[in-house]
Amino acid sequence: MDASRPIPRLPGHFLTGHLSDFRHQRLKLFRDLKETCGEIGTLRIGPMPVTVVTSGSISHTLLHHHANDVDGGPLVKTFTPLVGERSLVLLHGPQHRKQRKLLAPSFQREQLAHFTQTMVRYTLDAIEGWRDGEAFDVHDEMATLTMRIIGKTLFDVDYRHETNELLGAMGQALQHIEYLTSSLVQIPLSWPTPRNRRVREALRTIDTTFRGMIRQRRVDHGQRKDMLSSLVQVRDEEGQPISEDQLHNDLMTIYSGHESTALSLGWTWYLLARHPEVLARVRQEVDTVLGGRPPAFEDLPHLRYTLQVIKESLRLYPVIFMLARAPTRDLDIAGYRLAKGQMVLMPPYIIHRDATFFPDPERFDPERFRPEREKQLPRYAYFPFGAGPHTCIGNHFAMMEKQLIVATMVQRLDVELVDDKELPPEILTVTLRPSHLKMRVRHREDAAPGKVA
Ligand code: HEM
Repeated sequence: MDASRPIPRLPGHFLTGHLSDFRHQRLKLFRDLKETCGEIGTLRIGPMPVTVVTSGSISHTLLHHHANDVDGGPLVKTFTPLVGERSLVLLHGPQHRKQRKLLAPSFQREQLAHFTQTMVRYTLDAIEGWRDGEAFDVHDEMATLTMRIIGKTLFDVDYRHETNELLGAMGQALQHIEYLTSSLVQIPLSWPTPRNRRVREALRTIDTTFRGMIRQRRVDHGQRKDMLSSLVQVRDEEGQPISEDQLHNDLMTIYSGHESTALSLGWTWYLLARHPEVLARVRQEVDTVLGGRPPAFEDLPHLRYTLQVIKESLRLYPVIFMLARAPTRDLDIAGYRLAKGQMVLMPPYIIHRDATFFPDPERFDPERFRPEREKQLPRYAYFPFGAGPHTCIGNHFAMMEKQLIVATMVQRLDVELVDDKELPPEILTVTLRPSHLKMRVRHREDAAPGKVA
């Protein structure tokens, strides 16, 4: 007997369904779906049905408990030509588990401690380059900074000179992912259009450079301190190293993480600049804990309020605002039948605004993440880094980097927005962007300059 409840359908245009809103007003569409359908509902993009889960608990069940019964579905598969078919995001089940186990130790918090200096030094460089009163695009500056940091920490490359061929090519490839996932008609990469030629050239550059770097590290025997050097040392249970092809795909996926960090920093600056009382508390904490010197790894646990601010900004703006999966067999979850192959979207952006767990959910309130209050939250209420086996492998890296960048900047700069008005997030692929956010900085006269530890 089939005891499953029907999944409510969101009424839409008979032909196009919700295509237009999906492209232009996706957050509003998800909010409408939650209002009309409740914890789960189905909309249509043209002829294609898409199920949207707005319940944290159901999302968790799918991401965590049914991790072996899903893959990323058509949306995630779009990334294949660029990140490679062995990329962590595309692997599932035992293959994913095996690869993840090999990579995970390099991303543990303690392993990342020696990257602190690079993170702080590059932030200080950026600060030095900004003149008093100068307005700049927050996302562009944060992206340059996080790209420099990931370039140095992952493969010991410095992006200070914009001409760096590898990082230019990586930028080109990432742009192409954005293009692919935001255009309806996708021209295959094999067609000789000018865009495709540029992308193929970029992929060739990435391929040759990655393989060169991997081979170099194999003979270097761990002389360098970058993450790639530790990844080439890794051995599986049979004593085999990670293959060159696999490492190649891993590098591309890990590298892409810098973009999420940059977006998320943009939202944190937006919120801090609009909440001077919160900014003042962060500054007070930074000045008390650091007393004018640059932050070090050991300071991170003491910059508690700064961490709360970062967590709360990821609640309001989880930059990967929706996760995508498709069941590989028919599934029954919470009494609903999810059919094999059905595209399922789970938006933390909506789930993080559940008033049951976050009263007055639109309000920016870092107090929600005071440790004793955070402990009360069920795991499924808040998951900006995802859930289950695909949970962001770079979450410690990102949190540490964000804490260090925010502390270093607050310590040395006064910041204000050029235009202090509400900024609706712009959506590109699965990300929320603080587009056209401009900020003006002034170097604090009372800030004591210091050297990186
Ligand atoms: C604030 C910054 C970041 C956010 C919000 C974020 C968010 C996420 C989310 C939500 C996922 C899960 C996607 C899914 O389940 O479909 C993910 C996966 C991943 N992230 Fe991040 N990320 C961030 C920074 C980073 C950084 C800095 C790195 C690398 C150093 C990184 C590397 C990865 C990788 C490799 C995966 C795939 C993991 C797997 O499939 O097993 N991320 N990230």
